[in-house]
Amino acid sequence: MIGAGYVGLVTGACFAEVGNDVLCVDVDAGRVALLQRGVVPIHEPGLSDMIARNVRAGRLRFTTDVDAAVAHGVLQFIAVGTPADEDGSADMRHVLSAARNIGERMQEFKVIVDKSTVPVGTADRVRDTITAALAERGADIGFSVASNPEFLKEGAAVGDFMRPDRIVIGATDERAITMLRSVYAPFQRNHERLLIMDVRSAELTKYAANAMLATRISFMNELANLADELGADVEHVRQGIGSDPRIGYRFLYPGVGYGGSCFPKDVKALQATAREHGRPSRILAAVEAVNEEQKLRLVEKIVQRLGADLSGRVIALWGLAFKPDTDDMREAPSRAVVGALAERGAAIAAYDPIAMDEARRVLGSVERLRFADSPMAAAQGADALVVVTEWQEFRSPDFGALKRQLRQPLIFDGRNVFDPEHVRAAGLEYFGIGRP
Ligand SMILES: NC(=O)c1ccc[n+]([C@@H]2O[C@H](COP(=O)([O-])OP(=O)(O)OC[C@H]3O[C@@H](n4cnc5c(N)ncnc54)[C@H](O)[C@@H]3O)[C@@H](O)[C@H]2O)c1
Repeated sequence: MIGAGYVGLVTGACFAEVGNDVLCVDVDAGRVALLQRGVVPIHEPGLSDMIARNVRAGRLRFTTDVDAAVAHGVLQFIAVGTPADEDGSADMRHVLSAARNIGERMQEFKVIVDKSTVPVGTADRVRDTITAALAERGADIGFSVASNPEFLKEGAAVGDFMRPDRIVIGATDERAITMLRSVYAPFQRNHERLLIMDVRSAELTKYAANAMLATRISFMNELANLADELGADVEHVRQGIGSDPRIGYRFLYPGVGYGGSCFPKDVKALQATAREHGRPSRILAAVEAVNEEQKLRLVEKIVQRLGADLSGRVIALWGLAFKPDTDDMREAPSRAVVGALAERGAAIAAYDPIAMDEARRVLGSVERLRFADSPMAAAQGADALVVVTEWQEFRSPDFGALKRQLRQPLIFDGRNVFDPEHVRAAGLEYFGIGRP
């Protein structure tokens, strides 16, 4: 398993859990040292226990030794990062460096599996890179490249991997298909979940999935902003349309925009691919533009209520992670909200159940931002409470106590988690997204 991040660690641990012998390699020596000491550097429910169990059983190990990693397995999964490059396209440096490492060292047949989210055509580039490295050595060794995009959700990654909706395999080589079928067999005892297709379709499927989900979110955000103007409640509308089985309830939540390590970069990367091929995507351009604006929708509402100059104001902020059950702060909407509030002079008291360390790392330099020990401590003396991430523990606060803590009884609910009537009945002013 090449790359021991969210995807590599979860995939490696789950493969070990069903009995495989897994070696995870990462270029980040600090991360590997932590893992070797039994510290799991990311928050993912159930992952630490699973890793500990499989390390104890001798089925899961971590290394920085590339020679050992290439020698270790016939299946070489590439699960390294593919961040957005300056022009929005996916930066393939890490993927191609992993491919080169394999080509420079392999001594026998290997199946190289692209698990990272990579643009259509990457399997060809991986193949060319390995072929070139083999040619430099004058080595004639067979290998196969397959695509196996990952669909796990952070916060539920272990469950998603152990019980996948589908497993997409892009491959034409029978030997590779047989090996992948065998390694995934334990995860689909109940019914067949393997979708085998050509490599390019598999690569495109991953971007299509994330782009579709991001589109649903931006659509709902645009609708919510219109509902604000019309005096309609988008939460009723959401249920009204979600009940249609053709639409469904999931990913229809309006809020402060999508974030995380995947949607923003994947929407950008798919646009870059579309542009390169002369078919620029008007839909995705709009999805991205709506999302960027939406991150500041709450701040707009705060300014409408408290004025443009927020100096001397204290804002309590609940939730920093880009979504609940993760400590991931990559592209988290909270970063835009904190930045905009600080720019207007506000002091911010923030609380998150899990992401506080990560938030200190990425937001530590923001002036007048402090981190509170509890939701109520954050609210103490604040002019408004802003909810940015819908953690379970925020859903049903004691509104009476909250009112007593706040200097001004204002709630800006960026995830529509509260019942406006309930909040108002407790004597607080309520502002949601797309709700009168
Ligand atoms: N995070 C998710 O929820 C998720 C879900 C599905 C797909 N993906 C995709 O999976 C890929 C990995 O994402 P992630 O969130 O796990 O990233 P991550 O940043 O958490 O982890 C990537 C790891 O790869 C390591 N690495 C980089 N170059 C390397 C090399 N040459 N050899 C060995 N290790 C190397 C890095 O040090 C890092 O630890 C991305 O393409 C992402 O889009 C992510």
